Amino acid sequence: MSPDRVLSGMRPTGALHLGHFHGVLKNWVKLQDEHPCFFFVADWHALTTHYESPEVIGESVWEMLIDWLASGVDPEKATLFIQSRVPEHAELFLLLSMGTPLGWLERVPTYKDQIEKLKDKDLSTYGFLGYPLLQAADILIYRAGFVPVGEDQIPHVEITREIARRFNYLYGRQPGFEEQAQAAAKKLGGKRTRTFLDLRKAYQEQGTDASLEEARALVGQSQSLSNNDRELLLGYLLGSRKSILVEPQVLLTKASRMPGLDGNKMSKSYGNTIRMREDKESVEKKVRTMPTDPARVRRTDPGEPTRCPVWQLHQVYSDEPTCEWVLKGCRTAGIGCLECKQPVIDGILREQQPMLERAQKYMDQPALLRDIVDHGCARASEVARETMREVREAMGLGYR
Ligand code: TRP
Ligand code: SF4
Repeated sequence: MSPDRVLSGMRPTGALHLGHFHGVLKNWVKLQDEHPCFFFVADWHALTTHYESPEVIGESVWEMLIDWLASGVDPEKATLFIQSRVPEHAELFLLLSMGTPLGWLERVPTYKDQIEKLKDKDLSTYGFLGYPLLQAADILIYRAGFVPVGEDQIPHVEITREIARRFNYLYGRQPGFEEQAQAAAKKLGGKRTRTFLDLRKAYQEQGTDASLEEARALVGQSQSLSNNDRELLLGYLLGSRKSILVEPQVLLTKASRMPGLDGNKMSKSYGNTIRMREDKESVEKKVRTMPTDPARVRRTDPGEPTRCPVWQLHQVYSDEPTCEWVLKGCRTAGIGCLECKQPVIDGILREQQPMLERAQKYMDQPALLRDIVDHGCARASEVARETMREVREAMGLGYR
């Protein structure tokens, strides 16, 4: 039980670009200093949409891990692993599937959206419908307290919470619960025991969420409790059942404002990306051929930066004086577009430099990368196996 644990995953469907770096990975790098973090390659998830082209996945897995490390994700701080190497995810997915109402899955907004959007793929499959449930298993198996995701993934975390609640409701009953919970509360010790019971009462009688949070924190911080005591107390807070699976919270990652080469949000589907580890010549070429303000036909025509995608990149990469230089130079036709683009090129190359260096280490020594992942998979497996033992026990499968 680790209410503090952060878990997130990414589907390996191609090289990562600067949008991933600014939108997701920078946040992971920050989180790894604040929480125990588990980050994994969601290769099974990728198969739900790429089941006809699985070779893309195999190629992307290692490249993506290198991209993570390149961005500064630190294997000394975070646990990095691959979903399919911890097959317990599949077992939990199967067990949860037994009691998950079909309607819950059919109503997840991404379900119909994606089928509509990815028309070239036949997504009327069992696996695709089950996508959010597999994601729920990913999260619940580590009893993660926080899931950093973008807005589009909120419904998936929401359904995860419902699934956890339902599981605890169905399987968290046990004889003598009240007495055991009381005994566990005593172990908090003196004043804390009283505070805990008061907070529980406040939450149950008045529904004050702050009391619930406070009580959870109290349980999380206590050194004197076993894992079993913690579960008892977390379940006791919500009602009179043992909380076997933990309801996670969304850590909303603010939408990245990373613009692509054409002024739209940077995204593979728009073909407007710069890869995190794109080579220098290619970065130069892509920026030099970027569209600019269409009003600037000739060098002598003044332009308007707010109508130009290059300006958006200046806002990411350039300092104040450079931005001033662009605004003035563009509007007075004092600078040419190629001249204007140079600081953007320099900014991107500067940002990429440390990434390329970190990545090089793993490209030179693939065994190093393998070791990191072996180690991460082993750590993840340990946690997953422990959860599964309890889940099986709770579901009456403890006889194996
Ligand atoms: N569905 C997520 C995405 O497409 C990837 C993912 C799979 C995930 N399992 C997860 C994210 C568990 C967070 C937690 O981005
Ligand atoms: Fe865009 Fe810069 Fe050219 Fe102005 S000078 S149109 S901001 S590239």
